[in-house]
Amino acid sequence: MAPTPLTLALSKGRIFEETLPLLAAAGVGVPENPESSRKLILPTDSAELRIIIVRASDVPTYVQYGAADFGIAGKDVLHEHMAQHPGGLYQPIDLNIARCRLCVAAPEGFDYQAAVHQGSRLRIATKYVRAAREHFAAKGVHVDIIKLYGSMELAPLVGLADAIVDLVSSGGTLRANRLVEVEEIRQISSRLIVNQAALKMKGEHLQPFLDAFARASAAMA
Ligand code: PRP
Repeated sequence: MAPTPLTLALSKGRIFEETLPLLAAAGVGVPENPESSRKLILPTDSAELRIIIVRASDVPTYVQYGAADFGIAGKDVLHEHMAQHPGGLYQPIDLNIARCRLCVAAPEGFDYQAAVHQGSRLRIATKYVRAAREHFAAKGVHVDIIKLYGSMELAPLVGLADAIVDLVSSGGTLRANRLVEVEEIRQISSRLIVNQAALKMKGEHLQPFLDAFARASAAMA
């Protein structure tokens, strides 16, 4: 009987694209692309590995419950997830892929520094509630956080919020919506995450992938 393949959880977009060279370094090709195939379980050209495509914020959940043996998730997503669901995940390495930064951004005409200086209470829209709360608490700025699930850039444009906390990569989305970055909270990249039970039970199969990913990401750094 053929062995059950290992399952790797990825999200579409930059994480998927930037994981392909790591998989190639592990000798694995992925013939289909989730953007065009729409399949949620993607076979690879290795009988030992299949890929599942999930929302970025769901990657830690699939790995934590063991529905995926390992996955790749942004530090932003992990920071939010671990606050509510600690344990069960081993985070061996920072892969240094899908690099971006978590920032505070506000409309061009909004004097953010003056508002902070005056002690104004700010309304902040974000998907990253924990990171935003920690950032403003550390600065002593009073905020009301409004949780959104996407298109954060819209919130200040229609009066839902004064500013946003969001990921910035090229800056193109901010520019297109006439927002400016007013503070960097932290640099973000993606980490490999592994189900702890899978590492114990399937370590022999998993470890070569973990080692190949670590070597490839170090070589690309
Ligand atoms: C992220 C982020 C910004 C955009 C920034 O969204 O939330 O909207 O990318 O990238 P840029 O600086 O290169 O323009 P993503 O496309 O990941 O989708 P999301 O709204 O689901 O987070």
